Amino acid sequence: MATTSGTVEFRGPLGGREFTRAVLRWAEKFRRDLPWRSTRDPWAVLVSEVMLQQTQVNRVTVKYREFLDHWPTPRDLAHAELSELLKFWGGLGYPRRARNLHQTARQITSLYQGKVPRDLDQLLELPGIGPYTARAVMVFAFEIQTGVVDTNVGRLLARWHGYSLRPKNAQEIADQLVAPGQSWEWNQGLFDLAATLCTKRNPRCENCPVNAWCAWQGTGKDPADGSAGVSRRQRPFHGSDRQARGRLLSALTQGPVTTAEAAEVMELAEQQFRATQLVDDLRNEGLITLRGETLLLGDLVQ
Ligand code: ADE
Repeated sequence: MATTSGTVEFRGPLGGREFTRAVLRWAEKFRRDLPWRSTRDPWAVLVSEVMLQQTQVNRVTVKYREFLDHWPTPRDLAHAELSELLKFWGGLGYPRRARNLHQTARQITSLYQGKVPRDLDQLLELPGIGPYTARAVMVFAFEIQTGVVDTNVGRLLARWHGYSLRPKNAQEIADQLVAPGQSWEWNQGLFDLAATLCTKRNPRCENCPVNAWCAWQGTGKDPADGSAGVSRRQRPFHGSDRQARGRLLSALTQGPVTTAEAAEVMELAEQQFRATQLVDDLRNEGLITLRGETLLLGDLVQ
């Protein structure tokens, strides 16, 4: 908290008992009621975390429930066609996540008897599972003592410390701060604190339960700019490759498209070369298949 002389007065180190208690007390009171928080089923947690990687909470909520109705276990998804999953995934965007999740379900089924592993290295071997998602599963399903650093938590850690952090440092700091025996409550609490108060723009420092320990306190250059795990500005969607790819995938959920039609479907009739590249990318990523002159959704490899 800033004193009248303008200097910052600290109440003690981050991770001290008072600090930890203040975060946990706040977290208990303001915890968001989200569907994936009422389960410890590792598959459900894994699915929620993959969906949340690039999609906002309110859009994930409905799709998460529908997904688990369709494919309640890794085995169920492993036996589904990729095209079926891609049709379902539609509006969530970033369809590579769906393909990776499908492959992950197959690996879990073949290597781990259909049980999501709890070991960091085994989780990291699964397609599409990076350090963030692996640790989120360890904590939110298995309550293992480790820190979970997503963009929001990365921002909050940089601000608390007052300087930009490298990924390794951010992870080490996050691990050290975890409240003993309460890793689930602690990490969910940090997510909520970062998502609702320590926001990217207009942080509400006056309501923050630990503002007295914060090196930044909302004034001056934001230490989170350029810090580890803190996302950069997204490129505009309109006119992007992502939009064009989405158009083709969306058309393919309705039925086959010939290679001659693809550029038009992507609204790239004037940019044939770009259209061909995007089709090649989608094929290389295993999201679409070429049969003769016809493009089909999915990999068709069983
Ligand atoms: N974003 C990623 N994981 C989350 C979680 N468990 N709760 C809220 N937002 C999240």
